[in-house]
Amino acid sequence: MSLGEFGMSAKANPATLYDRAHHAAEVIRARAKLQPSVAIVLGSGLGAFADDLAESSAIPYSEFPGFARATVEGHAGKLVIGKAGEVPVAAMQGRFHFYEGYSLEDVTFPVRVLKLLGVRTLILTNAAGSLNVEFTPGSLMVISDHINLMGVNPLIGPNDDRFGPRFPDLTATYSPELQNLVIEEAKGMGLDMRRGVYASLTGPSYETPAEIHMVRTLGGDAVGMSTVPEAIVARHMDIQVIGISCITNLAAGVSNRPVDHSQVINTGERVREQFTELLRRVIARLK
Ligand code: HPA
Repeated sequence: MSLGEFGMSAKANPATLYDRAHHAAEVIRARAKLQPSVAIVLGSGLGAFADDLAESSAIPYSEFPGFARATVEGHAGKLVIGKAGEVPVAAMQGRFHFYEGYSLEDVTFPVRVLKLLGVRTLILTNAAGSLNVEFTPGSLMVISDHINLMGVNPLIGPNDDRFGPRFPDLTATYSPELQNLVIEEAKGMGLDMRRGVYASLTGPSYETPAEIHMVRTLGGDAVGMSTVPEAIVARHMDIQVIGISCITNLAAGVSNRPVDHSQVINTGERVREQFTELLRRVIARLK
């Protein structure tokens, strides 16, 4: 399936990225009843949060100009705009991954659109493999920083100053204040919450034990195949970012068990009640 079938890929459409994002934001604004100030990207097995939003409108990605379509199991592929408590939220049920064959411009296009919709805080969730034996499956990790091992950067290409600067600073990609807020709320719930560095690789194959050894040597605590492109693009546009990983498995070679996608999904399901409650509490405190 080519991207062109779902709307406008960069090659098929001469409009600038800014124009395309602006157009998509207008289409969404016309369909949603609320203006979201917070957005959440729900990772593998974690889509349930969006089902509980009040006064919600759910719009499949296929109906948005410029949005690609999520293909991996556990990712539904729709945008749900609704209220979590008093806070208007845009929840992406399913995200786009580089390993599906999308460009990083396509992967991060929704983040561009969310900014133009007025979103000021982006919560990125994911499923991740743990490099640290103390971070056991079922625990959550608030992301303190990342290591981009994808070999690409979503900002490569012409820079549009309307989005942000050519050389954005990534010193505090994941807001330190919001990391503390997440930890405080998790503690209040008695959750097993860690803080650590998320390393992104392209996938789709899981890592080899030697690669995991390398990532651990580099300072990674968890590995996954997402989040980093969205975080970079969010910071480019001065959106504050929270990252939370659900540790679904021990990474390759950390235990002698093979890594298996069904374990990733099942662990996500096992913790989803706690996870969605944590999200609700965190969002209630976002201004
Ligand atoms: N590696 C990469 N991505 C992942 C993993 C893993 O072990 N678990 C969940 N996503």
